[in-house]
Amino acid sequence: MRNKIIIGNWKMNKTPSQTESFLQEILPKIKQSSSVVVFCVPFTNLDIASKLLKGTKANLGAQNISWQDSGAYTGEISGAMLKELSVSYALIGHSERRQYFGETDTTVNQRTVAAHRHNIIPVVCVGETLQERQSGNAQDIVTNQIKQALKDITPEQAQNTIVAYEPIWAIGTGVTASANDAQEMLKHIRKQLNNLYGDIADKMHLLYGGSATAANAQELLSQPDLDGLLVGGASLKVEDFSTMANIV
Ligand code: 13P
Repeated sequence: MRNKIIIGNWKMNKTPSQTESFLQEILPKIKQSSSVVVFCVPFTNLDIASKLLKGTKANLGAQNISWQDSGAYTGEISGAMLKELSVSYALIGHSERRQYFGETDTTVNQRTVAAHRHNIIPVVCVGETLQERQSGNAQDIVTNQIKQALKDITPEQAQNTIVAYEPIWAIGTGVTASANDAQEMLKHIRKQLNNLYGDIADKMHLLYGGSATAANAQELLSQPDLDGLLVGGASLKVEDFSTMANIV
């Protein structure tokens, strides 16, 4: 049985002081949650968040990680820097990074390898555009993204790698993939992972993201291959995100 994981991706939202008041309010509300809860906050909020999450069951995540460990890479943040702030998860290859910041399948792979080098669990994001879905290529696109992202990742590392399916047309649009569409793609993803890693694929956690809310979480989470949610907008609100963490 795979346990459930709910990850909040705050994107470029909340200052350190807003982070402090948000976490102080939400942490007591998610104490009873039986799922793994992760807050992926902006880099500038990791320090305060790491202090507030200490001693709680909630986990800290970053929204990116450099593929280099140190050196002349202006603007980058290394795994060692994250580790010292108790970061245990890192989002990699979010579609917004692919779209606006030149992230490619190659850099996604390099970051995934780097995350494992620092014992940080990579949350590799994949997903197709609306056009790709409409032209019937969604599964091929996602297959290719996965194969490239996981190049040189060993079976042991794969077991500690999360794949998040985030159809681009569902992100921040209010249009959620139907539970059936999400399940169909996640089942396909697990099959590809099985081709790469055999039975280990059954132990890997696959998440869905894209306009997930407190209202649709239950139905999405009842799908057999869906092991959790990657939540954007709704993760910024105490009521919504705590409700979702408790449903999970
Ligand atoms: P929304 O939940 O706002 O659609 O964002 C999803 C997402 O991109 C999470 O990484």
